[in-house]
Amino acid sequence: MRRSVRGHPTFRLLLALMAMTAVARTGAAQWPPKMANLEVLPKDITVDSLVSVMGGFTRALGVRCSFCHVGEEERPLATYDFAADDKVTKRKARAMLRMVQRINDVDLAALEGRSDPPLRVQCVTCHHGQRRPLLLQDVLLQALRDGGVDSVASAYQGLRTRYYGRFVYDFSEVPLADVAEVLVARDSLAAARRLDELNVQSNPGSAFARRQLGIVALLEAFLAGPARGDTVYQALTIRFGAPPVEDVLNEAGWELMRRGRPADALAAFRMNATAYPGSSNVYHSLGEAYVALGDVANAIRSYAKAVEIDPTNTDAADKLRKLREKGAPGSPGDDLPAPQRPSRSRR
Ligand code: HEC
Ligand code: HEC
Repeated sequence: MRRSVRGHPTFRLLLALMAMTAVARTGAAQWPPKMANLEVLPKDITVDSLVSVMGGFTRALGVRCSFCHVGEEERPLATYDFAADDKVTKRKARAMLRMVQRINDVDLAALEGRSDPPLRVQCVTCHHGQRRPLLLQDVLLQALRDGGVDSVASAYQGLRTRYYGRFVYDFSEVPLADVAEVLVARDSLAAARRLDELNVQSNPGSAFARRQLGIVALLEAFLAGPARGDTVYQALTIRFGAPPVEDVLNEAGWELMRRGRPADALAAFRMNATAYPGSSNVYHSLGEAYVALGDVANAIRSYAKAVEIDPTNTDAADKLRKLREKGAPGSPGDDLPAPQRPSRSRR
């Protein structure tokens, strides 16, 4: 063996691996003449295949050989004990290999109407450059648990600086918005708004990011009263060059309804009806708030307006019919908001 080491395939494997990992230059003589401990990969695997499988592992997980193998990163590969199973990560990787084989050869193979050529699951399919295949949302929620919203913001910026443009994390407008929604559900509105602000800054072209920021900012503002709601609405209109889309104030209003604040919701829906007088949906929401407040006459007027604008709004039509059947009590003054601005199309 030792005599023919230069011609031996494992010697070429070593050269290839050294080139690939740019680590060591010496110690070829210590390289094992054949693979001693393959349990999943075929024992007669060619050197080229093994090189590409191992290279695939390191890239898929964003790690070096020493993540799984006994050896020190800065030392020659020939000093590694690749056959040893001491590291739990190697044992887990072997279990992963078995899992991936099963997915491809059993589960996907049995799939009806398989694509041609068939797609195969690989390590990178799940791991996308990480040891543990986490979504950005997972990482940010962990930062939230560890250190609150400040940690989320700094973790996000740090990861973005390091990984932007790589297939590791999703830096679109979705992950920060998801974490902000978790905060809204916990009533941490100021913290949610901070993340939605960061989202708008990081994704200036995103209408979705602006929408999410608008909802939270308005919810927070209306909880402090209609006057504050109006101020923030005007501020958003100036900042983004147009009133928030209809959906924004509507969502904020529904969040207020869910929080048992129908009077504040009513103020939000009325403001929306003023900005979007041509929207059936806005009057529909207005009707719901009047119902919650026990103002049947104005509820009827609102639903009637919703149906007038859009006769296919069957939910509003049903509610209108039921209220009319019950018979509206005496008729207090018409309290529907007057349109002040022309309706704007959705952005
Ligand atoms: C994510 C874990 C992981 C990484 C990273 C990894 N390997 Fe492996 N390696 C394994 C597993 C698991 C096996 C055994 C596969 C089996 O049992 O069929 C193995 C087997 C080997 C073997 C065969 C050992 C023997 O004698 O049986 C060699 C050589 C090897 N790896 C080299 C490397 C090199 C070089 C790198 C870095 C470029 C590397 N590996 C990176 C998990 C890994
Ligand atoms: C179907 C998705 C999926 C595929 C494909 C996949 N993995 Fe994993 N892997 C996971 C998940 C999920 C975990 C985390 C399990 C846990 O700890 O909860 C994980 C964990 C691991 C770990 C442990 C990491 C650590 O820090 O403890 C290693 C090593 C690993 N995978 C290697 C691989 C290798 C090598 C392949 C390709 C042969 C592979 N995985 C393919 C989903 C996958």
